[in-house]
Amino acid sequence: MKDKIGIVYATVDGQTLKICNELVNILKQNKQDIELYSITEFSKKVTDFDKLVIGSSIRYGVHHEKIIEFINANIAQLDTIKTAFFSVNLVARKPEKNKPETNPYVIKFFKKIDWKPTVVEVFAGMLDYKKYKPFDRIMIQFIMWMTKGPTDRNTVIEYTNWNKVKEFGMTILKV
Ligand SMILES: Cc1cc2nc3c(=O)[nH]c(=O)nc-3n(C[C@H](O)[C@H](O)[C@H](O)COP(=O)(O)O)c2cc1C
Repeated sequence: MKDKIGIVYATVDGQTLKICNELVNILKQNKQDIELYSITEFSKKVTDFDKLVIGSSIRYGVHHEKIIEFINANIAQLDTIKTAFFSVNLVARKPEKNKPETNPYVIKFFKKIDWKPTVVEVFAGMLDYKKYKPFDRIMIQFIMWMTKGPTDRNTVIEYTNWNKVKEFGMTILKV
């Protein structure tokens, strides 16, 4: 069946968008009708879509404010279609924290919001100290030190599991 699928994202350094682009590829290969929007440019109605995917990265423990506002403002409409939510963060690089039920940010997010998407997923993001402003770099180095990750400022590691992204795309197709 051909569905109209919207993907709405919030990113700062581009990793969430990269994941969205991969989802677009997978869904297009499967003949779906896809529209991709940054949260700042999304002006359609939720109900214009059969399925809506919402993705956000984590900054200092929280998902992007505009994503939270958007969900809160549209909960009733979101409940009338199939929905998927995914979170991107570095804590999810740890096997014991890479599932929606075990990732602290996802757990906290759904405790605060009265929305139950059809599908939820969490992906590990990108670590690239050179991209961060000095304050942010020091903070991320501290977070990584606390969680026993790399602290060398030359580190560039993409932790995202692309097979998992593919599986998420296939799940979106099936719901
Ligand atoms: C300023 C800043 C704060 C971050 N805070 C967290 C955090 O609290 N927990 C975490 O797991 N990852 C944190 N991250 C890592 C990002 O979630 C990760 O790099 C992700 O890939 C960013 O996705 P984006 O490029 O789509 O914004 C932070 C990154 C930056 C630059």
